Amino acid sequence: MSLENLVNKNVLSQPVYEPGKPIETVARELGLDPAGIAKLASNESPFGSSPKAVAAVKAWVDDAWLYPDGGCYELKNKLAAIRGVAPEQLILGNGSNEIIELLGHTFLGKGDEVIFGSQAFIVYKLVTLLFGAKPVEIPMPQFCHDLDAMARAVTDRTRLIFIASPNNPTGTANTESDLMEFARSLPEHVVFCLDEAYAEYSENPPDLRPLISEGRNVICMRTFSKIFGLAGFRIGYGYASRDMIALLNRIRQPFNVNTAAQVAALAALDDDRFIQDCRTLNHANGKVLADGLRELGLNPVPSEANFLLVEFVNAMEAFHTLQVNGVIVRPLQPYNLPNHLRLTIGTQEQNLKMLNILSDYLLP
Ligand SMILES: Cc1ncc(COP(=O)(O)O)c(C=O)c1O
Repeated sequence: MSLENLVNKNVLSQPVYEPGKPIETVARELGLDPAGIAKLASNESPFGSSPKAVAAVKAWVDDAWLYPDGGCYELKNKLAAIRGVAPEQLILGNGSNEIIELLGHTFLGKGDEVIFGSQAFIVYKLVTLLFGAKPVEIPMPQFCHDLDAMARAVTDRTRLIFIASPNNPTGTANTESDLMEFARSLPEHVVFCLDEAYAEYSENPPDLRPLISEGRNVICMRTFSKIFGLAGFRIGYGYASRDMIALLNRIRQPFNVNTAAQVAALAALDDDRFIQDCRTLNHANGKVLADGLRELGLNPVPSEANFLLVEFVNAMEAFHTLQVNGVIVRPLQPYNLPNHLRLTIGTQEQNLKMLNILSDYLLP
């Protein structure tokens, strides 16, 4: 019997996530020196990992033979103090990606509906489909989440709503007061997930903790993959009510977050200077990059994160031109944006390289 007859139907119809190409792959395929390639495709931090995290992992590595602390005791306590919640209100994941999947396991079944923006992080859709639920994608005028339209789309079958603010891949954000009002308007059978993957790039990101204290079905997620520079360790977290976290913990695998990730995250949380510097540099570099793109006749969408969404006459041609010259960026067909590229804001040097390639390409 063919395997196709045996598999869960959702697996066969499941779209496949296409990550940004690793530097080594592009170097191999194009015969380039990996050292000269800039990867600006996955919104990783161009400033590397928190040095305190790297030192802590080096000091820990001799203990790698031990299983991790599945309950992430130390890290939860530290995060609880920082976020002002109880340790029982926190769940750690193998990247915040895993928290999205845990939400699917916990709340979604066949026929349920999940609401998110038409240009939202693609994993919301993948997880929705994986659990046999129906994606309800809401158009985003000016690439912003339309909270009124999202509220209007709620039905009896709606179980989850995902909003990232700032949003990937558009870089746009919603205000705290709008998000609060939106969440308070939702009926009790809906769980609202605010994805704060890029929150640290803002000085004052929205704070939805009052909603959690009010007993609303709200979960917020953060990641160590972006400003903390720990994407390779795979670690992120969610905070919500004790009841919601207890449900998610039921289906979490015992050792989902490895010790290196926990050690790195703990140390990175003490690296305030580094995080502040990354935030400041990202702002400064993002401004220079956006100005440079505008000088080339392009019109980047104003961004509150560490990337820019840019429309091209021929986005795939621009993508290939950048790639053969050693800059990897992200095409956005999977986001219904075939004419756009997402450019991670790099170091000054990387951004200049990108601008020079684009200048030769657009203004030959
Ligand atoms: C909006 C958003 N949420 C979540 C994630 C997942 O992050 P991670 O699984 O690395 O924590 C990303 C990664 O790009 C993202 O852009």
